[in-house]
Amino acid sequence: MKLKTILGTLASASLLATGAIAADLTIVHGSIGRDQEVLRSQLDKFEAATDHTVTIVSMPESTTDQFGQYKLWLSAESDDIDVYRMDVIWAPQLAAHFVDLTPHVADIVGDFVPAAIESQTVDGKLVALPMFLGAPALYYRSDLLEKYGEEVPTTWQGLTETAQKIMDGERAAGNDDMWGFVWQGAAYEGLTCDAQEWVHSSGGGRIVELDGSIQINNPEAAAALDLAASWVGTITPEGVLNYKEEDARGVFQSGNAVFMRNWNYAFALAAGDDSPVKGKFGVSILPAGEGGQSTATLGGWHLGVTKYSNNQEAAIELVRFLNNYENQKERAIITSRPPTVSAVYLDPDVAAEQEFIPLWKPVVDNALPRPSAATLRKYNEVSSAFWTAVHNTLSGNGTGTENLAKLETELTRLRGPRW
Ligand code: GLC
Repeated sequence: MKLKTILGTLASASLLATGAIAADLTIVHGSIGRDQEVLRSQLDKFEAATDHTVTIVSMPESTTDQFGQYKLWLSAESDDIDVYRMDVIWAPQLAAHFVDLTPHVADIVGDFVPAAIESQTVDGKLVALPMFLGAPALYYRSDLLEKYGEEVPTTWQGLTETAQKIMDGERAAGNDDMWGFVWQGAAYEGLTCDAQEWVHSSGGGRIVELDGSIQINNPEAAAALDLAASWVGTITPEGVLNYKEEDARGVFQSGNAVFMRNWNYAFALAAGDDSPVKGKFGVSILPAGEGGQSTATLGGWHLGVTKYSNNQEAAIELVRFLNNYENQKERAIITSRPPTVSAVYLDPDVAAEQEFIPLWKPVVDNALPRPSAATLRKYNEVSSAFWTAVHNTLSGNGTGTENLAKLETELTRLRGPRW
């Protein structure tokens, strides 16, 4: 045996004894707002505190595009990635590819929001450790509401009218770029979230009910979609049919929209020192249909360790580190992402530096999950059928009633005898 090899063997043997083999880890992570900047600074701290190094593989903004890429890596059993940041909806579909974290987080799991842990638990296996949650808000221009003597709308019909009035007034005063309401209308998972809110808050139920039944083809749901279609080209730019989160934020943050539907991350950015709407906006719960209840879709991203990783022990250490109290607190303050460790909501520094977090706790607690638990491995196809029906309606390609009738047929076919 060559000297170098012997020394190498001795070195790794002694490191093994202390459980500290240096690993080069890779984490795959979507890029939106300041998420990756905060991640990188936390990874630097992890590297300083351990012998490990961590590289970020950056993903496109759309969760739908990310899912496609993740499936390719996972079905190839790739060991290139150790830690995946996963959308809240994916656990049932991807569970088989991930390490069961249950025995590795037994000492800390009780600190986490129970519903978040439940959302990542599939047949008793903890697929991912929750990183942050999401429950969208209605962002409104407080200065413009005041100028026009209007209240924050509580119904979709009210929003439609207020948005039109203020947009018309601002355009007449010379701002031709002003719009009433921006949101996510591209054909992807984000539209499923927005449309679930319109439908559920209007009494139209869920895309698939908790018991697996399909009741989406109903008049309330159709009316909710038709109302949303009426926004396109009136209070909402036609380009919304290609808008994702950052497109909507771009319009609102530059001062050119009265209302925006968006996730929590947009708060910290719109309130930033370089934001033209700093000090001119507020947040409220989303409107509801007449007589309905405001609905916020549950979002969030969570960290899983793939079974194909050659560095599972170090990867688990990283997942625990990124989700510890201090890192959750820092993330909550800088990115206004709702944390998954319950105590962070009560932290006085968080309340002082990021008021949105404690304010939003009840909305997060009551957020409506998408039917990924009910539809299991078929969720992605279900969601895709739903967003297609909605996108067609928004594009003027059939009415809500026509597209929901087709959707019912498609979902029934997808389900077969059972989900
Ligand atoms: C946000 C949510 C995620 C959702 C996505 C849709 O990232 O956290 O759950 O699927 O938006 O665009």
